[in-house]
Amino acid sequence: MTSSISLATEIAGNKLASCLYNASGPLCSTTDELNAIGESAAGAILSKSATLEKREGNPSPRYVETSWGSINSMGLPNEGYEFYAAYSKHSANYNKPYFMSVSGLSHADNLLIIQYLADFTNIAGIELNLSCPNVPGKPQTGYDFEETHRLLDMVFAQSKLKIGVKLPPYFDIPHFEMMAGVLNKFPIAFVTCINSVGNGLVIDTHSETTVIKPKNGFGGIGGDFVKPTALANVRKFYTLLDKNVAIIGCGGVKNGMDAFEHILCGASAVQVGTCFMREGPSCFARIEQELKDIMQQKGYSTIADFKGKLRTCS
Ligand SMILES: Cc1cc2nc3c(=O)[nH]c(=O)nc-3n(C[C@H](O)[C@H](O)[C@H](O)COP(=O)(O)O)c2cc1C
Repeated sequence: MTSSISLATEIAGNKLASCLYNASGPLCSTTDELNAIGESAAGAILSKSATLEKREGNPSPRYVETSWGSINSMGLPNEGYEFYAAYSKHSANYNKPYFMSVSGLSHADNLLIIQYLADFTNIAGIELNLSCPNVPGKPQTGYDFEETHRLLDMVFAQSKLKIGVKLPPYFDIPHFEMMAGVLNKFPIAFVTCINSVGNGLVIDTHSETTVIKPKNGFGGIGGDFVKPTALANVRKFYTLLDKNVAIIGCGGVKNGMDAFEHILCGASAVQVGTCFMREGPSCFARIEQELKDIMQQKGYSTIADFKGKLRTCS
């Protein structure tokens, strides 16, 4: 019996009955989609990344699944920040926290949105997406450490809500250290690792074309392929960040063992992107049961029993 096993966790002072929920992006843009997450076994609801204005996004095909995951260049299609702020009132129908992802196209946009959200008491926290364009021709904010510092300075000067950041993947040890050095200067509630691995290229050899249309076929990679990178980012930030910062693992989770690995690396919660897109909201109950089965076999009854306890092989 796995009924005595708990997947409960806490993010930004909010209690989640389950540590599994959706990644921002897939199937979380409309009221119906957000409601479906609310009705599912997911431990929280996370919105699509919101911009200042409503956006249609890029032309299709803009999302394609492969045997190892997915490539996308969606172009941030979303209803605009006021829609996702208003949804927070409706989210109160579900007994789980509602987080809102914010992805302004400039620092000014981010600040305006965050200022506006201050009075929405049903928003459990903001996931500020640093994997988004800032100035044309410059790297995305998360790859520019000074720019990240500048943005967070402004954000924390005025936000009343709990703030976490969604980071792009890092690949070089000094980059982990530089980003952790910036984040440790602020009262960050959580850090979500990772956003898509940027600018991959997937080819259809039959037609000798790219599989997606925007950006000449370049797009963000998710799914199985990104799991080792996601685990490395969760692990590194778990060891480098202040211990009161919760790490949320995201990347390559499609079954209970993937979630187990993220938690072993230090994740307090685990998000599901590509797999949720493919399978829909029933994936949460399935992955939760698989995770509970693994915990039972290993003699663990809460995620605290193994969170962060990864050992180096001898
Ligand atoms: C179709 C699609 C749309 C996405 N849109 C967003 C987004 O709006 N904001 C964001 O932070 N991440 C976005 N992502 C990235 C995912 O949240 C996630 O970080 C990434 O896909 C890795 O997780 P996975 O391996 O479970 O897919 C998107 C991913 C996909 C597949």
